[in-house]
Amino acid sequence: GVVIVVPPVSNATGIKMIPDNAHPFQAPGPNDQRGPCPGLNTLANHGYLPRNGIASFEQIITAVREGFNMEHDLAGALAGFAMLARGNAFVNLVSIGGASPLVPVLPGAIDGPNPPGGISKHGRFEGDVSMTRQDAAIGDNVHFQDSLYDELLLYTGRFGDDSPVTGNGSIVTTKVMQEFKFARFVEDQVKDPVLQYHVGRFALSYGEAAFVLNFFANGTDGTLSTPVMGSFFRNQTFPDDWYRRSSPGDINLIGEGVDQILSAHPIAPGANDANGNYVLDAPIDTCSPIYFNLAVQNLPASYSKATGILKQNVNTLIQAIAKPFGCPAVFPTGPS
Ligand code: HEM
Ligand code: MG
Repeated sequence: GVVIVVPPVSNATGIKMIPDNAHPFQAPGPNDQRGPCPGLNTLANHGYLPRNGIASFEQIITAVREGFNMEHDLAGALAGFAMLARGNAFVNLVSIGGASPLVPVLPGAIDGPNPPGGISKHGRFEGDVSMTRQDAAIGDNVHFQDSLYDELLLYTGRFGDDSPVTGNGSIVTTKVMQEFKFARFVEDQVKDPVLQYHVGRFALSYGEAAFVLNFFANGTDGTLSTPVMGSFFRNQTFPDDWYRRSSPGDINLIGEGVDQILSAHPIAPGANDANGNYVLDAPIDTCSPIYFNLAVQNLPASYSKATGILKQNVNTLIQAIAKPFGCPAVFPTGPS
């Protein structure tokens, strides 16, 4: 086992051209893991994350700061959740794609007899109503889907701002995401008989749209053009002449982005029932429903069987997840 240590907060968080010379693009090889997150895929393609796509908690926090200026505690919550949901917290490794021989079964088979699925595995972290990946029940929930991206481009052309450089309707704005995200929800609500859009996934889904606006935009002027967005989504590479954002992007920034996106077409967490009707969830009365649904209700209660280093790491990661929500850490109670 490897003891997980939360890295110190770095103050290397200014605007910076990315990538630097030490991080050239290199296409992944056949055994390198890539998955549903265009941010992590891009970082691995440039060696900010290990190019094989197998990363530690600390490596993920450092990489998302270096490449995108994601704030420390937000990064810690996402990395901690990925590790507990789909990685091996005993050896401190998670695959940014599918299952890998480099990420073994947890000791004591705490999460079943199989090796952890990696973040590509549906449920817990990967979920429904993604932007450029299909719902697992509809199609490919891992790889970039041209048809969905074309829809995003269509909405950008219709609702985006004009740019003197890249042309009319080529700047991706909050308005674009307001309309696109609502359209994606309506589509999947009709097409996915087992649509799950509970508050944890709901917040991540809208949060990821806010990631696009806040982390993919060029840090020089904060605007996001369609060629830049395409570079990340389609090619999983940093664009030319691209700068990371000029200040750390934290959970409050993303929360405000989510509220803005939702405000045009307010919908609420829920799931489809057997008749294909979208049934709203009862509100959860807790410090943070998002934290509670994601980490307490969804992570397996069997982590309570952990001993030694694994137990220590589980506690470290649960605290890292709770921290940016400002909530007390609560031990998971979910199914295996
Ligand atoms: C989606 C993990 C950081 C941008 C996802 C998904 C996972 C994930 C599991 C799939 C969810 C789904 O749509 O079903 C993580 C982890 C991170 C991280 C563990 C660690 C900090 C980032 C960063 C960015 C980013 C830094 C942007 C620079 C996105 C976007 C999507 C996404 C845009 C949605 C893709 C789509 O809907 O087509 N991420 N992510 N992520 N992530 Fe990340
Ligand atoms: Mg998904």
